[in-house]
Amino acid sequence: MTRVAIVTGGTRGIGEAISIALKNQGCTVIANYCGNDDKAKAFSISTGIATAKWDVGDHEACIDNCARIAAEHGSLDIVVNNAGVTRDGTLARMSFEDWNEVMRINLGGCFNMAKASFTGMRERGWGRIVNIGSINGQAGQYGQVNYAAAKSGIHGFTKALAQEGAKFGVTVNAIAPGYIDTDMVAAVPPAVLEKIVAKIPVGRLGHASEIARGVVFLCSDNAGFVTGSTMSINGGQHMY
Ligand code: CAA
Repeated sequence: MTRVAIVTGGTRGIGEAISIALKNQGCTVIANYCGNDDKAKAFSISTGIATAKWDVGDHEACIDNCARIAAEHGSLDIVVNNAGVTRDGTLARMSFEDWNEVMRINLGGCFNMAKASFTGMRERGWGRIVNIGSINGQAGQYGQVNYAAAKSGIHGFTKALAQEGAKFGVTVNAIAPGYIDTDMVAAVPPAVLEKIVAKIPVGRLGHASEIARGVVFLCSDNAGFVTGSTMSINGGQHMY
């Protein structure tokens, strides 16, 4: 049976690798994105994966688009909540908008997408939700009270929703990536990043494909007994 998957933020960075990995497992993948039309178009041409543009922080947009995709493809079986943004800065410099935008997209997006997909998964007796958290939600990070709070919230959200899905064949898990060689990490000032990499026991940044392989496992039938868990993939930087 072909499973239908949505990967939010699925055309760039970690999300791109996840979309491709799920497609390679035989899933029908729809890669959601919000901003970069050119990149989404190039991604779709090179991978053959369909894209769909909406803001995961917009509740109605999530409900409408998930319903449309489920109707077009017959079901919606897998949701990977990967979309995320940073608005880094020390608390003194962080505006309310910086706080709110990160909470709205990173944590609100998980709620919106779960609301749009969870009931159908329960009714069909099978589903997989994988939420992309962060090492910085586990350990905190200087200059990221908004991002760390949102990502930490994702880990709590995962454990709570897992309890609601367990009896119905719906698993809900999180992955907590460490520092991965994506545009988001490339935006960290080089001197700061150098100090961070020095603290990674494996001695390098991670690759997006290394996160994608974890997602593939959690979405597989083999992972039916894994729920409410957080898989840390961080080169040993934080052993939690
Ligand atoms: N711990 C303690 N002190 C620190 C510190 C740290 N980790 N980092 C900086 N400081 C100190 C500096 O030493 C400096 O102190 P002095 O003035 O006494 O020398 C002071 O804080 C100001 O530092 P900056 O010059 O860096 O301050 P800034 O205002 O220019 O920038 C910042 C602050 C935006 C937070 C910048 O430090 C930064 O971008 N840090 C990186 C944050 C980060 O790791 N983000 C991760 C993005 S990737 C991601 O989020 C993906 C994921 O899931 C892993």
